[in-house]
Amino acid sequence: MFWDFLTLRPESLHQVMILFSDRGIPDGYRHMNGYGSHTFKMVNSCDNAVYVKFHFKTDQGIKNLDVKRARDLAADDPDYSIRDLFNAIANGNHPTWTLYIQVMTFEEAAANKFNPFDITKVWSHADYPLIPVGKLVLNRNPTNYFADIEQIAFSPAHMVPGIEPSPDKLLQGRLFSYSDTHRYRLGANYLQLPVNCPYRSKVTNYQRDGPQAHDNQGSAPNYYPNSFSGPEQQPAYRMSSFDVSGAVAKYDLSNDDNYTQAGLLYRNVFPKDEQKRLVENIVDNLKHAADFLQEKAIYHFTQIDDGLGKELREHLKLAKCSKANL
Ligand code: HEM
Repeated sequence: MFWDFLTLRPESLHQVMILFSDRGIPDGYRHMNGYGSHTFKMVNSCDNAVYVKFHFKTDQGIKNLDVKRARDLAADDPDYSIRDLFNAIANGNHPTWTLYIQVMTFEEAAANKFNPFDITKVWSHADYPLIPVGKLVLNRNPTNYFADIEQIAFSPAHMVPGIEPSPDKLLQGRLFSYSDTHRYRLGANYLQLPVNCPYRSKVTNYQRDGPQAHDNQGSAPNYYPNSFSGPEQQPAYRMSSFDVSGAVAKYDLSNDDNYTQAGLLYRNVFPKDEQKRLVENIVDNLKHAADFLQEKAIYHFTQIDDGLGKELREHLKLAKCSKANL
């Protein structure tokens, strides 16, 4: 089913190549990058907005595990990565990531060759260079795993003023989905839990009642508008405005160019030895798929790069032979 889905959604192949390359198995959390992935907006105090991508680049350097070691660790030491992170922080060896942004103006977005809100595409670093803007430092471990980790409610919809969503439709889907699951997983008042509540301001809104409501805002009214000095809308925090034009419809984007960027990754970014490991890793997984799915996968990888398609076919033949000989 894995390869059935992937071959029916070839826009996933660029990411699949990363997954099966060396980068697919980081040597712990300290040695990997983090990405906002989606396109977001940054808005200044004059309501001027630009589109941005966020990149957190590890200052510890990228390190990856080879497949054999990763298999051994998965079997013998599944806490390997989390222990490494915990101990580094506990020993004062605080891991850091440099935060970069890529910036695209609305005009550039309109003229861009590919859809800048398509999460399966990367923004060229040559056209949209990385701009360093800050640091992420992990300097404290949680003291209670349940209270601090399991009850946390991360959501892509939780944004600070100045950062807003873009029309990226995958992001739009995520915006409501995470809070839905938080209400289910943690209860209607999950935002009152210490790990999720604001510390520097008092919440005043119209949300009342429900299980575990421990700050029900006294006798304040629960309807709006009202004559009892209830909270007012804060225009300073409204979302920036943007122009919309063109037809609104359900468009199928799966036939966009799904191969060019994956080809550049294969030819220009992966060195020869990593190309070889990529082929081995893909074959190791693809060999279990049904024959017609293997054919479809090879078709797509050939569109990405002729040589890659040939290599996969050759290796798959050998893998199938050795399986048949067993
Ligand atoms: C780029 C695509 C996506 C990424 C990188 C991503 C990432 C993640 C991560 C890392 C978690 C675990 C969060 C945690 O442990 O607290 C998660 C959970 C979740 N994701 Fe996604 N996700 C993506 C797409 C989606 C989409 C499209 C939906 C639905 C429309 C979705 C719905 C959820 C839900 C409901 C949870 C559980 C949240 C919770 O209970 O805290 N995700 N996702």
